[in-house]
Amino acid sequence: MAPTVILIGFMGAGKSAVGSYLARGLGWNFFDADIQIEKRMGMPIAEVFEKHGEEIFRTAEAAVVTGLLDEAASSREGTVVSLGGGAVTVPEIARRLRHEPLVFLLEEDLETAFKRTGGGTRPLAGDLDSFQRLFEERQVLYRQLAGHVVDTRGKEIREVSDAVVRIIEGGEGE
Ligand code: S3P
Repeated sequence: MAPTVILIGFMGAGKSAVGSYLARGLGWNFFDADIQIEKRMGMPIAEVFEKHGEEIFRTAEAAVVTGLLDEAASSREGTVVSLGGGAVTVPEIARRLRHEPLVFLLEEDLETAFKRTGGGTRPLAGDLDSFQRLFEERQVLYRQLAGHVVDTRGKEIREVSDAVVRIIEGGEGE
């Protein structure tokens, strides 16, 4: 069975950028769960939240992520999947992640994460106070579900990707 690398972590940690870079370097398939959800729903995530609410978004997220992981598991090629920051809060997804050996948590500091995402189109990155609350609430869950943690603070996309590759190849961990 070909390996599946799953990137988790808070909004603005660089999961999509690192995932795409990493997959390109390894010559593996890459899926960004958020983009797949937008395709499935036929609208941007902000609009899904606005029109249907978070619960419907999470239901779509569960279906998309489990579908991607099934597809990756049956693929003959390696796959990298970047999850949205809140995917770990969906019980069905969390259950799946517990059985996956290559779940990587990308850890960024709150200020940088907010600088990258705050005030943008992300529905849950509006103001710093609620962003911080969510950030703190989720830390335990991220840590519980990740088999590997990569500190991304001050690092370039390439450096984070290289750190993941070293771990996959059985080199140094973090
Ligand atoms: C969310 C994170 C977003 C996206 C949605 C909800 C969250 O993904 O799935 O806006 O609950 O943290 P990114 O982490 O890719 O920004």
